[in-house]
Amino acid sequence: MKKVAVFGSGNGSNFQAIVEYFREKPVIFTAISDKESSYFLKRAKNLDIKNFYLPFEKTAEFLNNNDFDLIVLAGYMRILPKSAITSKMINIHPSLLPELKGLNAIRRAYQGNYKITGISVHYVNDEVDSGEIIAQIPVKIEENEKLEELECRIHKLEHILYPHVIDHLLFNTGLDIGSLFIEGEEN
Ligand code: GRF
Repeated sequence: MKKVAVFGSGNGSNFQAIVEYFREKPVIFTAISDKESSYFLKRAKNLDIKNFYLPFEKTAEFLNNNDFDLIVLAGYMRILPKSAITSKMINIHPSLLPELKGLNAIRRAYQGNYKITGISVHYVNDEVDSGEIIAQIPVKIEENEKLEELECRIHKLEHILYPHVIDHLLFNTGLDIGSLFIEGEEN
């Protein structure tokens, strides 16, 4: 059985997509949030996943005292200190890193008239959105596309990419980004 911790602060849609993807697989999730009343924690309750609020200040200690096969950041709006970061910690970011690190990456791509943006899954280091890239999907910004439409498309693709990358890291499954991208665009 693999032990996976998922950290989130907000909506939790990636977390839900991950849990649903792994329903039939030997993975035990723990959902942890720095926001007591987050929808992320509500989703965890609804999905029957062990969950709790953990003040940010206690996170490094928690991670040092608990062993996980993978630590997944999914909309966790905090910058972890060096003492909390491990080599098994990953994050998803809605841009083609190293472009557009930080907050509001989709909006900044849209308003900056980018033709292509994307999604990146990367290892976490102590700088924002800067760790080694594991997988990326480019997303073309269509002419006349509304910002909300682009956001929706990117989130849908995140929900496909992130579980597959986690599966790859936990179970060494193949990661055929090209076919995922086509699959995502067709959805
Ligand atoms: C996603 O767009 C992710 O790329 C970014 O934060 C957002 C989290 O969304 N890091 P959700 O909480 O998973 O719905």
